Amino acid sequence: MTFLGIDLGTSGLRALLVDDAGQPIGATERHYKVSHPHPGWSEQDPADWIAALEGAVAELAQNHPAFRDLAGIGVAGHMHGATLLDAQGAVLRPCILWNDTRSAEEARRLDGMPGVRAASGNIVFPGFTAPKLDWVRDHEPEVFTQVETVLLPAAYLNFFLTGTPVTDMSDAAGTAWLDTGARDWSDDLLAAGHMRRDQMPALVEGSDRAGVLRPELLEAWGLTGPVTVAGGAGDNAAAACGIGALNEGQGFVSLGTSGVLLAARDGYRPAPETAVHTFCHAVPGRWYQMGVMLSATDSLNWLAGIAGTTPAGLTADLGDALAAPGTVRFLPYLSGERTPHNDADIRGAFTGLSAATTRDDMTRAVLEGVAYGLRDSFEALKATGAQMDGLMAIGGGAASRYWLRLIATVLGVPLALPSGGEFGAALGAARLGMAATGRDVQEIMTAPDVGEVIDPVDDLREVYESAYQAFRAAYPAIRSIQ
Ligand code: XUL
Repeated sequence: MTFLGIDLGTSGLRALLVDDAGQPIGATERHYKVSHPHPGWSEQDPADWIAALEGAVAELAQNHPAFRDLAGIGVAGHMHGATLLDAQGAVLRPCILWNDTRSAEEARRLDGMPGVRAASGNIVFPGFTAPKLDWVRDHEPEVFTQVETVLLPAAYLNFFLTGTPVTDMSDAAGTAWLDTGARDWSDDLLAAGHMRRDQMPALVEGSDRAGVLRPELLEAWGLTGPVTVAGGAGDNAAAACGIGALNEGQGFVSLGTSGVLLAARDGYRPAPETAVHTFCHAVPGRWYQMGVMLSATDSLNWLAGIAGTTPAGLTADLGDALAAPGTVRFLPYLSGERTPHNDADIRGAFTGLSAATTRDDMTRAVLEGVAYGLRDSFEALKATGAQMDGLMAIGGGAASRYWLRLIATVLGVPLALPSGGEFGAALGAARLGMAATGRDVQEIMTAPDVGEVIDPVDDLREVYESAYQAFRAAYPAIRSIQ
């Protein structure tokens, strides 16, 4: 038997085929665009996700005979996106993504309503799904009246695969319509956001069965089936499954388009008075907490784009040895900020530029700004009692040793790098696909071997501590002039 993990990321889709033991057989990727029709807006066409999925599957099917033994599929997706379907199941408008801040006003309204934070366990952030629907109601009423079903991106792929609207608890928790403690839609939260329970997909645990692959796809993919499709997960919960982070004390730092610091929790410990996110895990009876910054590798990609090079080109120029903090500072708020400031309107800034500033100084400042943003999340998480004595490092940005050393030093914790192979959201999704066929979750969701541990650079801890304090002070100053 084989299993397919699909990670519907912000910049592309990764499909991973694994064997019975969860070991990789083959993987491939397809990329697509994010469109920004107005400043602060961020959208994707769900048809691009389907094209990416079909292309990736066709390639895996052609290159790996074991694909024919497919028994289970799990899908992970970037969270919070609003995919709106009409009564025929057709997509009504482009999906509004997690890093879209247009619905800041609607988020403020919802967040201020009595009982909302208590039921959802979270601040209603502009990036969450509920305020997006409120925005559509106000600005595109002709679309809003046709909305029959709202699906998160991973649930939309599940709908394509199975023909049934189903979502998992970990993704549903990012809508601000879920009672996160009770793991059920909240009628009060839905009513606050002008929505109804019948517009929501069915809820299952991520590791449970959401449905089976449609007969048309079985035929098109050359399979006999049946193929079980799991509930799946939001990408961060899936990544936690991929590194076996299910228990207190386990967590990761993820350097993707967003920057995430995640800590698995043994119970439900909401902290809705802070910008820490408290969400259901993708396995039953578990929750996790995380701090999220909206532009991690996105900040470096932006600098690389305007410098006419690649992110790897920029970081390679720095060498491997960590330098002391520079005088140039970067505030990584290109799309606003979530943890800890919950500020949709703030934008990024460079300070301390001089006629002598070089491209390397600016690269270092960007890497440092992201590291300080993660430290903000680290402090916010620590205040909730989450343990983070050691973290795994995952995501595309983890390819830079310089960046990892910097983050380890700024956080003051060692970062473990899984040894080779697959360990991210695609593996977590494949593991959910395995679990949904009846396999034991604890047996499947193990921690990967550690290949290397990146320790903090002790000699530089103090100077980086002062630089972090200066970064914290810069936020209100920049805020006041924007
Ligand atoms: C989490 C979040 C991002 C997206 C994209 O709350 O908004 O991490 O899931 O990866």
